[in-house]
Amino acid sequence: MKLSRRRLVMGTLLGTAFGALLILLVGQFVDFQTLSSDLKPLVSTEPAGGSLSLPLRKFEWKTRTPHPWELKYPYPYPFLVTHPNKCKGPRGAPFLLMLVMTRPQDVGIRQAIRQTWGNETLVPGVVILRLFVLGLPQPLFAEKLQALLEEEDREHGDLLQVGFLDTYHNLTLKVLMGLEWMARYCPSVQYVLKVDSDVFLNPSFLVRQVLQPNGPPRPNFTTGYIYTNTGPLRNPAFKWYMPPELYLQDKYPPYCGGPGYVLSGSLALRVLAVAQTLKAIYLEDVFVGLCLQRLGVKPTPSSPEAFLMFRLQYEHCAFHRLALVHHFQSQELLQIWPDFQRVNRTCNVA
Ligand SMILES: *[C@@H]1O[C@H](CO)[C@@H](O)[C@H](O)[C@H]1NC(C)=O
Ligand SMILES: *[C@@H]1O[C@H](CO)[C@@H](O)[C@H](O)[C@H]1NC(C)=O
Ligand SMILES: *[C@@H]1O[C@H](CO)[C@@H](O)[C@H](O)[C@H]1NC(C)=O
Ligand SMILES: *[C@@H]1O[C@H](CO)[C@@H](O)[C@H](O)[C@H]1NC(C)=O
Repeated sequence: MKLSRRRLVMGTLLGTAFGALLILLVGQFVDFQTLSSDLKPLVSTEPAGGSLSLPLRKFEWKTRTPHPWELKYPYPYPFLVTHPNKCKGPRGAPFLLMLVMTRPQDVGIRQAIRQTWGNETLVPGVVILRLFVLGLPQPLFAEKLQALLEEEDREHGDLLQVGFLDTYHNLTLKVLMGLEWMARYCPSVQYVLKVDSDVFLNPSFLVRQVLQPNGPPRPNFTTGYIYTNTGPLRNPAFKWYMPPELYLQDKYPPYCGGPGYVLSGSLALRVLAVAQTLKAIYLEDVFVGLCLQRLGVKPTPSSPEAFLMFRLQYEHCAFHRLALVHHFQSQELLQIWPDFQRVNRTCNVA
């Protein structure tokens, strides 16, 4: 029974395929015939311009349809969940604002970050402010997730939700909206950290060794892992593929790697202002680099081992001597954190 049905299906499929092939061949033959015999009269009897209008219209359509990764910016995206007064807390103007990029569904990741490096009171005497920046969930999950997000925010008061779809290719918009929040509600913050959620961060090292609260103010300061002499990947198979329609030049300016970089508050404001005059691209770290280039500001090198863009196996003392390591999942963070927090006088940090 099964066998014969399968045979029947196969037969039908083959028959259909053969039939389609036949139609295609005959169609092409007929087409060719009519075209070759009618070529002259067809063109000459067309109303003037008629034969030209079709390809022209196609071209117009092509130029008017934006590339799917093109970003609408500047644009008045709303803050859907926000905290206008977060910066005016009793502890005074913050030293460091952490803008942590997460997706709406990353509830567990945010919780792990709050319990580990995102803890605002980890560095004594220094006011740190944490905000998770996220966009809109995929429509399919929107209703349920939105209710959960609002509950999460009631409990922790640290979500900044912006009104566009949260996708990888909209990450630049999330970073820019984080800076817009800063410009509007926290313009006197000393430093802004843009950080991804899949990293290990050592806030003490970042604050004491890299940012140095007791040093002189550095209005043009930005640092991280600095990429130089890179350019767009033109093979669509790569995650960071850059279509020439979106970025034509074959070099990127120097830029700080996306997993984590710092800008002084005043530089962040100027980056935001110049961002509104440039064509935004979806690689947010490269785009910030383009803004810096336009401002004539170069990233300041940190010690070469302070911001690691590759994974490094956890080791207590080594991790006390750096600011950031890329590729740490929340489970690993929770696992290593108690050991990392243990006071160990055998490490020489500075
Ligand atoms: C944050 O760090 C402080 C100081 O180390 C600690 O007392 C507090 O329990 C931590 N908070 C969380 C949520 O882990
Ligand atoms: C970015 O967000 C906009 C607004 O929600 C959405 O229409 C667009 O599809 C998103 N772009 C990408 C590339 O995901
Ligand atoms: C910061 O950089 C700008 C160039 O964009 C320059 O005009 C300004 O003098 C610099 N400020 C300091 C304090 O170096
Ligand atoms: C301190 O760190 C060193 C090197 O990582 C390690 O061998 C030692 O066991 C640690 N001591 C404590 C008390 O954690």
